[in-house]
Amino acid sequence: MPLDEARQANLLNWEDRVPIHAASQGYDLAGLSQDRRRLSRAVERERELLPDLDGRDIVHLQCHIGTDTISLARLGALSVTGYDFSPSALDVARQLAHDAGLTVDFVEGELYDAVDILGSERFDVVYTGGGALCWLPDIRGWARVVARLLRPGGTLHLNEFHPVLFALDENSDSSLSLVYPYFETDEAIVIDEGPVTYTDGDASTITHTVNHEWNHGLGEVVQAVIDAGLTVTALREFMYCGSPVLPNLMIKRDSDGATVLRDRPERAPLSYVLQASKSQS
Ligand SMILES: C[S@@+](CC[C@H](N)C(=O)[O-])C[C@H]1O[C@@H](n2cnc3c(N)ncnc32)[C@H](O)[C@@H]1O
Repeated sequence: MPLDEARQANLLNWEDRVPIHAASQGYDLAGLSQDRRRLSRAVERERELLPDLDGRDIVHLQCHIGTDTISLARLGALSVTGYDFSPSALDVARQLAHDAGLTVDFVEGELYDAVDILGSERFDVVYTGGGALCWLPDIRGWARVVARLLRPGGTLHLNEFHPVLFALDENSDSSLSLVYPYFETDEAIVIDEGPVTYTDGDASTITHTVNHEWNHGLGEVVQAVIDAGLTVTALREFMYCGSPVLPNLMIKRDSDGATVLRDRPERAPLSYVLQASKSQS
C-alpha cells in the first residue's frame, strides 16, 4: 500500500540516518561481525527474558540495520527474517549478516503490509521493539499483524521504550515534565528534531528532519494484544532503557550500557517487556 505523507516523511528520515548508524561506534558493525559470539547490546541485556529461540522461525519487525536480528540468529534460531521499510537499512543489514557468516533473510515492507508480504502463520516468534511502535499510528492494527504472522503456539516478544518516557519533555534539564500525549492520538506528534540522531557520529547530513510519531499507552498495547487473540504471559516494567531519550536527566550505566535516570530512578518506568502467546488451536 502506498505510504501516507507522515510515513513517507519518516522513511526519508530513516534513510538519512542509516549511513550514520552504520558508521557509528554505538552500533559497532565491525565488532559484531568479527566476534562471532557477540550479541547486540539490546539483545545481550534482554537475553534472560527472551523466549526459547532454539529451532524456531523468527521474524524481527522493524529490524533497522540488523544488529539485533543477527544476534537472534546467534541464539540458535532455525531461521531469522528481518523486516523493515527502509531499503538502505536492509542493505546494511544484509552486508552485516554476510560479514558475520550468517544466513538471514531481510525483506522490505511497511509494517501494516507484513502479512501480505511475508505470509500468515509463518513464524514461531515475533520479536520487535527498541523504538519501533512509536512510528506506527494504530496499535490495534499492529497487534492484528503480529497475531496473524504467528503460527498457533507462537510467541510475541516486545521490548519497548515506555510510553511514560515518550510523554516526557526531552529538553527538560530539571524535572520530569509531561508534555506529549501518553495515549494514542489520531494526529501524529510532529517533531522537527533538526539534524540529530541517537547514535554517535556526524548527523549533519540528515536533511529530512521532521518525524511523525505516535505514543501508545501501556494499557492500549496490552488490550490491543488481547483483542487480537493473544494471551499475555509476561509484562515487566524497567527503570532503564536503551538510549538517552532525556539527555539532560539520564546517565549511562557502566555495567551494561543501559540508560537510567540520574536522580531517583524509581520515579518512572523507562522500558517494558511484553510477551504474549497464540493458542495452539
Ligand atoms: C529505532 S529503529 C528500531 C531499532 C532497533 N531497535 C535498532 O536499534 O536496531 C526503527 C525502525 O523502524 C523502521 N520503521 C519506521 N516506520 C516503519 C513502518 N511504518 N514500517 C516498517 N518499518 C518502519 C525504521 O526504518 C527503523 O529501521
